[in-house]
Amino acid sequence: MLLSIVVPTFNEAPNIEELVRRIASTVDGAGIEAEIVFVDDSTDTTADVIREVADRVTAERDRDAASTSLPVRLIHRDHPSGGLGGAVMAGFEAAASDACLVMDGDLQHPPEEIPTLWRRFARGDVDVVIASRYAGGGTAGGLADRTRVMVSKGATALTRAMFPIRLKDVSDPMTGFFLVDRRTVDGAQLKPRGFKILLEILARRPMRVAEVPFDFADRHAGESKASVRQGVHFLTQLTALRFGKMSLFAIIGGLGAIVNIAIVWALTHLDVDYIVAAVIAAEVTIIGNFLLQERFVFQDMRENASGVWQRFAKSFAFNNAEAVIRIPIVALMVSSGHISAVVATAITLVIAFFVRFVFHSLVVYAP
Ligand code: GDD
Ligand code: MN
Repeated sequence: MLLSIVVPTFNEAPNIEELVRRIASTVDGAGIEAEIVFVDDSTDTTADVIREVADRVTAERDRDAASTSLPVRLIHRDHPSGGLGGAVMAGFEAAASDACLVMDGDLQHPPEEIPTLWRRFARGDVDVVIASRYAGGGTAGGLADRTRVMVSKGATALTRAMFPIRLKDVSDPMTGFFLVDRRTVDGAQLKPRGFKILLEILARRPMRVAEVPFDFADRHAGESKASVRQGVHFLTQLTALRFGKMSLFAIIGGLGAIVNIAIVWALTHLDVDYIVAAVIAAEVTIIGNFLLQERFVFQDMRENASGVWQRFAKSFAFNNAEAVIRIPIVALMVSSGHISAVVATAITLVIAFFVRFVFHSLVVYAP
């Protein structure tokens, strides 16, 4: 069976030569019959470099049967659509084989790992093999700085919280390094935009998944195309994919806040002490929210989770801890920065909302 290696490229000219060299020596060494399909949207000389390399490989093959037999193909898109995700889909369409391996063109995905993915895939019992930075033995050393590490970890946790069942066995849903049987990818349904092509594939339908760990390396040359814009794009994509659960969670949270205020108002009017009123209101809201979440948000996850009293205990403990911790944090924000109590409260409430959602999805209703 042939392996099609799909490489999306955007201005990677100085990386092409080295990438092809390392892929060729790896697949030749492992006796894997493969092709490389570059899908290029570049505005620099990347396409020319790919053509040069492709011609040379062909010439060498004609001259010397012993050198690499790896065909190098180029799809240059003059009117690119869908960014990185669109490029990968175009690569799937053009590939000669159903077995399509996707990897970046900057050598952050070591070509030497290709045989590991291939051997796992060749066992024939899964639809996709994922090279993971976060599986046991994998590393994410190539993430440029600490901010990028935090964003990556946060986005991964949020994503897994939003798709707890589909991503149960997936530690790295955002990796760009994977091998998939393209017949299991529903191209018509998929609207790949931007960077999260694997997530789209995994979220749309149930897939049989295996992971292998790998070390995410430093870029060989050039700069990452990841940006704040890509990040915002990712969040909208994620919300579009999974608007349901989180929006319901938000609506219930909002209702809870209104009820909370109403109870405080009513009790203080009945001459109950403010602190007592606030505590009663908070506890009533926490319990009410829990019941509504059970019924409307996580109903499909209850049967695989722990018992109802355990779920309640976790949820109750978390929400109380959150309420208690938030007060000094607000105080700290107000005293250390030039920020009003209202703004500080609003910021902490928004953050608390996301943390609460992640906690409930991954801990309270953990399968
Ligand atoms: N054809 C095409 N079109 N290729 C693109 C485009 C595009 O619009 N944007 C980026 N690429 C190519 C790059 O040239 C590179 O080969 C690959 O896609 C990944 O882009 P990078 O700019 O190197 O991204 P990164 O290293 O910051 O992100 C990597 O890690 C992320 C997770 O942390 C990628 O693997 C992402 O897919 C992954 O989500
Ligand atoms: Mn990269």
